[in-house]
Amino acid sequence: RSPRTVAAGAAAVLAVLGLLAGGCTPATGGVQGTPGAAGLKDPYFPRLGNGGYDVSHYALDLAFDPDSGRLDGTATITARATQDLSALNLDLAGLTVAEATVDGEPAAVNRAGDELTLRPRDELPDGAEFTVTVAYSGVPEPLTDPDGSTEGWLNTGGGAVAVGEPAGSTTWFPGNHHPSDKAAYEIALTAPSRLTALSNGVRVSAEPVSGGRTRTVWRQTEPMASYLATVMIGRYATTTGTALGTVPVVTAVDPSLVSATAGLRAELPTVLARQQDRFGPYPFDAAGAVVVPDGVLGYALETQTRPVFPASSFDRATLVHEMAHQWFGNSVTPATWQDLWLNEGFATYAEWLYAEEHGSVPARESFEAAFAEEANWAFPPADPPTAENLFDPPVYQRGAMVLHKLRETVGDGVFGELLRGWPAEHRHANASTEDFTSYAEALAGRDLDGVWDVWLYGKDRPERP
Ligand code: ARG
Ligand code: ZN
Repeated sequence: RSPRTVAAGAAAVLAVLGLLAGGCTPATGGVQGTPGAAGLKDPYFPRLGNGGYDVSHYALDLAFDPDSGRLDGTATITARATQDLSALNLDLAGLTVAEATVDGEPAAVNRAGDELTLRPRDELPDGAEFTVTVAYSGVPEPLTDPDGSTEGWLNTGGGAVAVGEPAGSTTWFPGNHHPSDKAAYEIALTAPSRLTALSNGVRVSAEPVSGGRTRTVWRQTEPMASYLATVMIGRYATTTGTALGTVPVVTAVDPSLVSATAGLRAELPTVLARQQDRFGPYPFDAAGAVVVPDGVLGYALETQTRPVFPASSFDRATLVHEMAHQWFGNSVTPATWQDLWLNEGFATYAEWLYAEEHGSVPARESFEAAFAEEANWAFPPADPPTAENLFDPPVYQRGAMVLHKLRETVGDGVFGELLRGWPAEHRHANASTEDFTSYAEALAGRDLDGVWDVWLYGKDRPERP
């Protein structure tokens, strides 16, 4: 049986039914069962992610032709059903799906916007482990975020850079694109042999294949949220080294940036060692940094094990920030996008701590400066008004202010325990704002409403503290 594609109109109806009525009888097909939900009802991105299953592994086999910009991919997704499943959804923005299988059997594919619905021949029982393959291709289109920034698969003219926070990974592979479903990855990149191809984790092989191309395989063993997956294909000057005794470090920079970035790249192992002292064991088996020319992307991003920086953002504070995200965000990942302040607040506070310990600027001074800044008071850190405001200053600066007030309230000793204990408690998992406040209160041995009410949830700037 060959896969079939329902006409767009019918597919849209199916997707709406799937989204609105997660518990209904499927609209087509003979199987009586329950389709997985088409979205996880995230407070900011309700359609991201899908219900009814949990991914444990993605194997992405991607071939990129820089001349045409065309991407040819096969995604092999290993997952477990968390309900009886008659159908399941994957998120994919753009690109064309040629065929899909579930457990080796062709599956019917419906496409409605960014939702792909796969209907397996046989219903998947709750608890069953299953494998999905999706063959797809096309010229990926970058995504414009609600806040106007650009992400996804970015064609750099002669190469590509793929980044995904918050929704850009949907532009280059089908998956369960919500941070709550973390998985291991193996990303194989086939590209012209004159180019370097990088991704997350450890490089496991690089073999010549037909057409003057090389297939390079990267393996991310520890769980990763899909927004942290990355690809860089292009001309790069690379270095390899070691940090923390045994962790392989790969840096890659645009050839024009070799000397300008050499000093800071050499500091990377020191930054990691100092952070490991403060935050506990580094969570991953690889590390590194990639520096691209300005204009490729408008922000630095903590892509797992291998953060990416525009040239003009490759400074010490940003390096410290993106490395701190490896603990705060990448290992302990937000339960929903509403919990993003836990990422950005900790990463910003890591900058304040670094400046305190190694730059002799007390954290109290960084706090005072943030307190004085009008823009930081637009909304409470855990409550951006819309997705457009998700990365606005309050999420970063007020997030860090919460942590500083917490430190002043519980004292340096308990706060130091929290900096190690919190990433240990939720290592390689997800955590919410409520998880954090109850963790801090349990550690402090008392309620901390005074801190949360004013600094975390309070709308207005308090009297000068
Ligand atoms: N998480 C990035 C950082 O290190 C910023 C990402 C910004 N992305 C966006 N879509 N505005 O702070
Ligand atoms: Zn950040």
